[in-house]
Amino acid sequence: MKRTPGTSEIPVNGEGFVRIEEMEEGYPVVVVDTELCRAKIAVWGAHLFSFVPKGKGERLFLSEKALFEPGKAIRGGIPLCWPWFGARKEEKGPSHGFARNSLFEFLGWEREGGGTVVLRFSLENDEEKRRLWPFDFRLEISFRLGETLAVEMKTYNVDDVSWSVSQALHTYFSVDDIERVSIEGLEGCRYLDQLTGETALQKGVVRFSEEVDRIYEGRVSPLRLLDGKGCVTIESEGSRSCVVWNPWIEKSSRLPDMGREGYRRMVCVETANVRDDTVTLEPGSSHTLSVKYVWSD
Ligand code: BG6
Repeated sequence: MKRTPGTSEIPVNGEGFVRIEEMEEGYPVVVVDTELCRAKIAVWGAHLFSFVPKGKGERLFLSEKALFEPGKAIRGGIPLCWPWFGARKEEKGPSHGFARNSLFEFLGWEREGGGTVVLRFSLENDEEKRRLWPFDFRLEISFRLGETLAVEMKTYNVDDVSWSVSQALHTYFSVDDIERVSIEGLEGCRYLDQLTGETALQKGVVRFSEEVDRIYEGRVSPLRLLDGKGCVTIESEGSRSCVVWNPWIEKSSRLPDMGREGYRRMVCVETANVRDDTVTLEPGSSHTLSVKYVWSD
């Protein structure tokens, strides 16, 4: 089923709907409302920025200063970092790649047993992107929306040369108070501290009392994120690296779309393929990065 921006209501069997709304002119958003959850996905960036299981609260952080503009990444939800993570060293290009700034195609949706709805988006190369990245690719994103949330990012090399990507599902989790947050499952992992450039071994659970920007390597699944009120289990596949980020006070003041107190209510735990975990794809091959989030109160 192929749907383009501008289409309105598409009924879901049973209760609810999948609807494409123009949030601003030229800014389509897919709104999903089923008996299991509500969700919103900007077609720019295939960027999920709201996920609310029925009867529960918002699970993802969205900055009060977040911008919803073509070509700009949203500060919150799940930005897709692709085909490179972070700043580019040798060549110019936007931070975290161009996918999160690009207009995807909404391929449509289907309903699975139990009321889960799966939405699919894709991105391919064009003249503008080729100036930044000269390779032929197909990127497919799917969101499986039910009581839980699963995201799959599949990269196809449709070129006749091999190339490499680094990538991340840069998920901003909503937390009650960052100073009560802990992340379990990274104990004993080596990490690069992006703030000092040094590597270290994680001792005990990860906690937050200052800016944190780390790339963990190795066995990064399953993880548990706790904030004193609830817990989310993060199970990933196709990933041997994980980024943990909170900008804290000073860095937040340099991010115009972050807001002053936003850092207290968010933490990013990013399922990734970065550094030594960068993926090289031969012509005709593909790689799947996937994650499933299960919340419990
Ligand atoms: C994290 C990086 O993944 O993303 C940080 O590790 C970076 O270094 C952060 O500051 C936010 O990046 P951006 O480009 O969305 O402001």
